Amino acid sequence: MKFFIDTASLAQIKEAQELGVLDGVTTNPSLMAKEGISGANAVLKHYVDICSIVDGDVSAEVIATDYDGIVREGEHLAALHPNIVVKVPMIRDGVKALKYFSNKGIRTNCTLIFSAGQALLAAKAGATYVSPFIGRLDDVSTDGVQLIEQIRVIYDNYAYPTEILAASIRHPMHIIQCAEVGADVATCPLSAITALFDHPLTTIGLEKFLSDHQKAAQKGVKA
Ligand code: G3P
Repeated sequence: MKFFIDTASLAQIKEAQELGVLDGVTTNPSLMAKEGISGANAVLKHYVDICSIVDGDVSAEVIATDYDGIVREGEHLAALHPNIVVKVPMIRDGVKALKYFSNKGIRTNCTLIFSAGQALLAAKAGATYVSPFIGRLDDVSTDGVQLIEQIRVIYDNYAYPTEILAASIRHPMHIIQCAEVGADVATCPLSAITALFDHPLTTIGLEKFLSDHQKAAQKGVKA
């Protein structure tokens, strides 16, 4: 399973990249706003900055919601860097635009997916990725991971090449569950990725190895 980081923070992207397990980045207008990035030029420059840190797909979301606007904006974003994936919302004009981008060889990420039917439409329109938001489903008492499972079955039934990019991940167990049910990608906050490193028995075990090594070294000096 590929690991993407879900942030527009350059510091966090660099930190994740240095861990050696990062495959890409997803952003959205809320994450850009959180970093104080506003204005068309600043937003475009920020995407280029992200692409210079990570050698992997970087999702850049359109703001337009009409077909012509999505196409115009998406073509502009795609021209910024070969790793840019145009993120398009799951709306009627968005699905039409997915088809257009697919015919043009422009890669896409269909976002705001909350049902298997939406994922099916996006795959039929040729989306490169679909982003089911599992945390937001959990927030409304609906099993987000079950949606990933359902989409996996449908895509496998018909050999759709669209990759399932599990989004709105909140904690490390979401990552494990997504891996168990066959998500292709998990896009995560940095905290969920780094939480995977930790286990108390690893910490205790390492302390013991190091103290035993130290004791043996001291004995060696005395002998
Ligand atoms: O990639 C989409 C993601 O950013 C949404 O996450 O935590 O706002 O539901 P969240």
